[in-house]
Amino acid sequence: MTTPIEGFSKLSKEDKINYIAQHYTQYPKETVAVLKQYWNDDEKLQNLHDEFIENTITNFYLPLGIAPNFLINNKLYAIPMAIEESSVVAAASKAAKFWQTRGGFKTTVVGTEKVGQVHFMFHGDVEKLTTFFKLLKPKLIQSVAAIVKNMEKRGGGIKHIELRDKSSDLDDYFQLHCTFETLDAMGANFINSCLEGFAQCLKEEAQLYAPFTDKEKDLEIVMSILSNYIPNCVVKAEVSCPVSDLKAHHGITAEDFARKMVRAVNIAKVEPYRAVTHNKGIMNGIDAVVLATGNDFRAIEAGAHAYASKDGRYTSLTHASIENDTFKFWIEIPLALGTVGGLTTLHPLVKLALEILQNPTAKELMQIVAVAGLAQNFGAVRSLVTTGIQQGHMKMHLLNILNQLGATEEEKLSLIEYFKKHTASHSAVVVAFEELRNKK
Ligand code: MEV
Repeated sequence: MTTPIEGFSKLSKEDKINYIAQHYTQYPKETVAVLKQYWNDDEKLQNLHDEFIENTITNFYLPLGIAPNFLINNKLYAIPMAIEESSVVAAASKAAKFWQTRGGFKTTVVGTEKVGQVHFMFHGDVEKLTTFFKLLKPKLIQSVAAIVKNMEKRGGGIKHIELRDKSSDLDDYFQLHCTFETLDAMGANFINSCLEGFAQCLKEEAQLYAPFTDKEKDLEIVMSILSNYIPNCVVKAEVSCPVSDLKAHHGITAEDFARKMVRAVNIAKVEPYRAVTHNKGIMNGIDAVVLATGNDFRAIEAGAHAYASKDGRYTSLTHASIENDTFKFWIEIPLALGTVGGLTTLHPLVKLALEILQNPTAKELMQIVAVAGLAQNFGAVRSLVTTGIQQGHMKMHLLNILNQLGATEEEKLSLIEYFKKHTASHSAVVVAFEELRNKK
């Protein structure tokens, strides 16, 4: 059995690889070869990637695709998407093209407020704490003046600091609930630095506050951290057109298609099992752009799903309606994104993705990302209520299966042709592939 290792992080990259290969894989030589195969020949570029995280042993590739023809507020975009799942880029491109001739996507940023909290325990008189907080507030702001200076110069900074009594949920639990404007930065570092400054100031000032008893002076800071729940950092994206412009789809009339779309969205509104998958489809589009632009997709995921449950039940992030013969389809989603800082100037592909998007501000990126989510959802639900999802999926999946089977280019072309007329399931592809091979 392998024993734990001390000081792994101090080993050289070569030694780390050798250690993993020898202790955790069956064929160490092959393991080393696979890992090194993904190293970049350009040493500078490789070093850059090595330093993004700790204990790097190689690079992990994801395809970067482009979904063109997105008309957003009358401006045309080609959207870069980093994702491993087939069909996503194709579905986005198809939805973009569909709406491009129907007025395109319209978007509005509803708010850009970020949130952070200092969580602390206070054992004592709440009224005294409230009076103390009123005196403390200007000192809190003063305590982080150096951190906030540049952000304020650009028009951002701290918006509000509020004392929240949470002791009815948890004994002695209080918060400084703080809101921020971080402009084009996602703002995690800025917010966390401010919060840690507030926490220190709170602790120090409590100790100096004469009306407090010793127990009250000894308030305990538990943690200071931004929140990924940002219900006031929200963007709305929508498409609409006369129902008749939807055109007949796969043997159903435009009216039936519109009704089926609305019904499918309404099912996701009332049924959490469906809502989770419905929203997963939205996140297929969102995460792919978030990742390509070097943003934090875990933060986006966490915030989006929390927002989907904000009214006490997990529900759809998109909405659809037919009013006065107009079909309307829209999304409202919180997105904390940055177009400066973080990986944006470090990772060459992130830089390029932002350039392809015409170097958007964070607000513009919020709109582009929301549109990608809406387009993805439109594409998925359209397939679901018409042909079913497997037809398109299997077409794209076919190539993956053929690649796994080691098909040659000639075999791929022949089997793609064959499956235009036959239903492609995994086993059907394997059988057809074997038959084709055996024929030779
Ligand atoms: C698959 O990645 C996404 C879908 O399941 C989304 C949906 O069901 O709406 C197709």
